[in-house]
Amino acid sequence: MGKREKSAITVAALEKAIRRHNRLYFEKQSPEISDYAFDRLVEQLRRLRPDSPLLSEIPSESAPGTSRFAEVRHTSPMLSLDKCYREEDLNDWMDKFEGEVVASPKVDGCAVELRYDREGKLILAATRGDGVAGEEITENARMIQDIPQKISPLPLAGEGLGVREIRGEIYMRLSVFKNFKDSFANPRNLAAGAIKQKDPKKTGEYQLSFFGYDLLGVPFKTEWEKMQTLRSLAVPVVEIKKVPREKRQEVYDDFLGHRGSFDFETDGVVFKADRIEEQKRLGNTAHHPRYAIAYKFQGDSGKTVLKDVEWSVARTGVITPVGIVEPVELSGATVTRVSLHNYGLMKQKGVRIGAKVLMIRRGGVIPNLESVIEAGRGSVVEAPKRCPSCGAPTEIRDDFLHCTNAKNCSQTKVGELKHFVQVTEIEGFGDKLIERLYENGFVQDPADFYLLTKEQLLEIERMGEVLATKLIGNIQAKRELPLDLFLRALGIRELAKHTSKILTKEFGGLTRLFKVTEEELSAIHTVGEVIAKEVVAGLKKKRPLIEKLLKHVRIPSPLRGEGQGEGDRGKPFHGKKFLFTGSLLSMERREAEKRVEEKGGWVASGVTQELDYLVVGDGGGAGSKLEKAKKLQAKGGKVKIISEKEWKEMVGL
Ligand code: IVH
Repeated sequence: MGKREKSAITVAALEKAIRRHNRLYFEKQSPEISDYAFDRLVEQLRRLRPDSPLLSEIPSESAPGTSRFAEVRHTSPMLSLDKCYREEDLNDWMDKFEGEVVASPKVDGCAVELRYDREGKLILAATRGDGVAGEEITENARMIQDIPQKISPLPLAGEGLGVREIRGEIYMRLSVFKNFKDSFANPRNLAAGAIKQKDPKKTGEYQLSFFGYDLLGVPFKTEWEKMQTLRSLAVPVVEIKKVPREKRQEVYDDFLGHRGSFDFETDGVVFKADRIEEQKRLGNTAHHPRYAIAYKFQGDSGKTVLKDVEWSVARTGVITPVGIVEPVELSGATVTRVSLHNYGLMKQKGVRIGAKVLMIRRGGVIPNLESVIEAGRGSVVEAPKRCPSCGAPTEIRDDFLHCTNAKNCSQTKVGELKHFVQVTEIEGFGDKLIERLYENGFVQDPADFYLLTKEQLLEIERMGEVLATKLIGNIQAKRELPLDLFLRALGIRELAKHTSKILTKEFGGLTRLFKVTEEELSAIHTVGEVIAKEVVAGLKKKRPLIEKLLKHVRIPSPLRGEGQGEGDRGKPFHGKKFLFTGSLLSMERREAEKRVEEKGGWVASGVTQELDYLVVGDGGGAGSKLEKAKKLQAKGGKVKIISEKEWKEMVGL
């Protein structure tokens, strides 16, 4: 076989492999190789056939013809980023332009464009799609709090269409993802699914975040200036550093060193030429702009073998599969156990004992079994018929395996106790101690902690006087619990940090919360029907525990919104709740909300009976909130509907 012929075959095979891995990653969301290995294939192709059309293709996020969203053609292509893994390659890139560079962490999420009209109102949101056209997700994007509904009007570059566009990344914070990690493999996939929900409220329930990295239609001199402008429009921007050229590697090392402290997954550092003039001169390829590059982190994935699957009972009664793998080194840590999330996801992955699997430690934080590379001939993992903790029969509901005796199952009870201690931060009570206290019958539910005596503690193995006294003191120190913490500590599904805070802010006290209806709850921004239902049912179910806890715990008077403590008592809006609707003419929404807070008031998240003022923007566009407030008024509710002008007078503007 001649040399030319041989390399032709290699090129075709490479292209085929790259296409396949792209489909696995983007459409099926189940990659078989690491990003690093994938990039090496692309690199090889680039060397063998620099003009391969595949090199300038942006892989589509969804299989062709499967979208239920309208197509949006981008005003200019939404490109990808070039990547590199070595300092030399970064240097080569940097040699092509002059001036400083800016660097920011690369956030693993989904690219979107947001269009704003002449008045600065958000009129359209779209995914990147294949880079030329994406899917319209406007209503879903409106449910993401980080995305401004309105920005202040800006000067346009030349004769524009009157439209400004912000581009950026929708992602899920790791602190939010931790509530979903039993059901989803990673935050990127979850965010990708969450922005494409049929019902925008569902998108809202996922509490997605956003940061902007580009602003089109406005003239700038530097990238740095562009980011400051984005920031001034109340658009969150990711941490960005202006870097003298010689400090480039230092900045990369620094981001790499503290990647674990970010509340998002990051897989590299994005460098950009700071001067826009230089950016223009460099231009774009069909795939990426030449003025930017992602210098990626590597070495956080590895292949290993699945040895066994254990089943662990969570406090909710859900029985989760945990994979036991041959030790594998990932980002400097040896991993031997990995959550397989839930029964359904495990089945879907085709997990068998002895399978060769790909492990990834994303964002340097969560080890994940990304996919099965070779299933092998080992036994298929079946769900246990009986609960490993209490022996009761199990059942499969949706994708989850449940203990049918969750109410009395020891593991769920112990899980409940651990959760209470963790949320209330009662110090000194590790898992083992809690298990002993439960087995000995000293602590059966969270309220029993407050009844625990030193004598009981001394019955526990290896417990001494000093430690026992200290532990009792630690419990006593937590006799006062703020309402949001109290709510979260109850362990009601769906009542995590965010929702507890919102309920506290909206309803202020337990008396009111006991009466709250599903309808009222789901009227609140980001609280959808599913959460509303779980919360109402959960509060009812936990009522006996709540009553018991209240014999020992005091809940201080309601926590106000941020920065609104006791010091706000003398202020004119003290205790008053405001909500804005429609478009404000005099200032941006966030500015108006700030003014309310400065005057001691607080900004509500939805129209509820607690609302004092609904402020209707003079720019029009008030919708369902206004309708709802009118209905409440008709029923004798206290809410006052005022115009933007009237509100300005109240504020003294
Ligand atoms: S700047 C080409 N900065 O990663 C547009 N992008 O994999 C220039 N991304 O298309 C983008 N973090 O959607 C920029 N700090 C960051 C980023 C970032 C994530 C996304 C972006 C880009 C994709 C490429």
